[in-house]
Amino acid sequence: MAPNEELPIYQLLGGETLTAIVAGFYRRVPGDPILGPMYPANDLAGAEERLRSFLIYRFGGPPTYIQERGHPRLRIRHAPFVVNQAARDRWMELMLASIDEQVVLQKVQKEHRDYLEQFLGDIATFLINRA
Ligand code: HEM
Repeated sequence: MAPNEELPIYQLLGGETLTAIVAGFYRRVPGDPILGPMYPANDLAGAEERLRSFLIYRFGGPPTYIQERGHPRLRIRHAPFVVNQAARDRWMELMLASIDEQVVLQKVQKEHRDYLEQFLGDIATFLINRA
């Protein structure tokens, strides 16, 4: 694969597996000492749906996120939150733990897991907004 080539992840994994990945991430959020307090306790389901529909859109699926939320403007939308290196690393840790569950279930191939780590890790680094 050429370095800048994107994999059609929605096509490869399907909406169900992407939904399961995001659900696994949000299952871990409330109990996490760094991320737990950052997310809206009274609207965790809403937050889960926003990330789910964003990833489905971004990975080549239906653009429901754009229809409902407009341009993602991810840096601006993360500006209210302290996204430092520790928060970034924890976000990736919880996300990869969830992805790895899907690897064990053989819903995600190792090669696609590694691609997701790179892809999501790059966005997570781009979202760092505090020292
Ligand atoms: C780097 C660590 C990150 C932290 C600490 C973080 C934290 C947050 C928080 C607290 C929210 C608000 C929850 C809500 O009510 O929607 C949020 C929203 C969101 N995050 Fe992150 N996030 C991180 C990385 C990422 C990454 C890597 C992506 C994309 C791959 C992402 C995509 C989104 C999206 C799409 C929303 C909803 C935006 C909207 O439509 O309002 N985040 N994030």
